[in-house]
Amino acid sequence: MHALQFAEFGGPEVLRWALAPEPHAGPGEVRVRVLGASINPVDWKVAGGFMSGGQPLTGTGYLGRDGAGVVDEVGDGVVDVHVGDLVWGLGSATQAEHAVLGSWVPVPDGVDPLVAAAAGVAVETSERGLRLLGAEPGQTLFVDGGSGGVGAVLVQVAVARGIRVVASAGPANQERLRAIGATPVVYGDGLAERVRAAAAGEVDVVFDVAGKTDVDVLLGLVATPHQVLSIANFEAAAAGIQLTGGGADSRAADALAEGNRLLASGALSIEVQRFAFAEAVQAYELSLTGHVRGKLVLTP
Ligand SMILES: NC(=O)c1ccc[n+]([C@@H]2O[C@H](COP(=O)([O-])OP(=O)(O)OC[C@H]3O[C@@H](n4cnc5c(N)ncnc54)[C@H](OP(=O)(O)O)[C@@H]3O)[C@@H](O)[C@H]2O)c1
Repeated sequence: MHALQFAEFGGPEVLRWALAPEPHAGPGEVRVRVLGASINPVDWKVAGGFMSGGQPLTGTGYLGRDGAGVVDEVGDGVVDVHVGDLVWGLGSATQAEHAVLGSWVPVPDGVDPLVAAAAGVAVETSERGLRLLGAEPGQTLFVDGGSGGVGAVLVQVAVARGIRVVASAGPANQERLRAIGATPVVYGDGLAERVRAAAAGEVDVVFDVAGKTDVDVLLGLVATPHQVLSIANFEAAAAGIQLTGGGADSRAADALAEGNRLLASGALSIEVQRFAFAEAVQAYELSLTGHVRGKLVLTP
């Protein structure tokens, strides 16, 4: 089978769509024939060597954390899914013809599998962050970076929970934010004033998706640092805000179930730009700009 891979750390130019060993489903896992796998910024951070802790690359690197496909192998102990079922979820090395998922849910009838392929990382991150922030229905949430891969899903998950959302994006994406239920503001100088005006009252919690705004600006919107969570600005640790990278904080099964209810009901829409795996370099270059609207999905 083929998989996206790299033999040295670097930018998109190091990526190759080439032969790779077939993965197999271990206990509690399934293998899918991949129909689509999304690009998340973590993928180019991994390929760039930014997640290696300064260690050199050992062996071949593979990419992709989420996707959708048709189950073609079921691991020991898995009882809720069968060969031939169409599922989406979270796994590893999903940017390949076959990939192993550790968490999955069925693609609901009528939902485009490529949209489901784009949902995994975004819904897991959204559920995790909202839980850690303790965001409650009726509260006001500010999302900094609301039109990208995580942000646009987060806005819709929060709105569906009855949370009032103010979200930032560039000028070109203000209407998209409004369409998914947020009050839009433009990021950049004067952000705090625009957020306060849009919130017309208190901001209860801040979810920093983009990691681009000075943490002091975000802290100025709330009473305590604990009301601010970032998934991208890990340099802000000293400010006392919450930081999360997943791991033990993750409740993937809950998140996928919530995401699936929203997809099935039409409450969650994801704008998908599709690229063939052979065009992965181009798609990664787009992701690196940091201004992707919705999600980029690679397909065989
Ligand atoms: N810690 C975790 O568990 C976790 C999980 C998932 C993602 N992440 C990280 O979260 C970050 C975002 O991921 P993503 O998938 O949403 O990325 P993405 O799809 O590239 O979206 C980036 C977003 O940032 C916005 N943005 C750009 N400049 C900004 C600024 N100065 N102020 C505010 N927003 C700005 C963009 O808006 P415009 O396009 O409108 O300019 C866009 O919506 C990445 O660093 C990623 O690695 C972390």
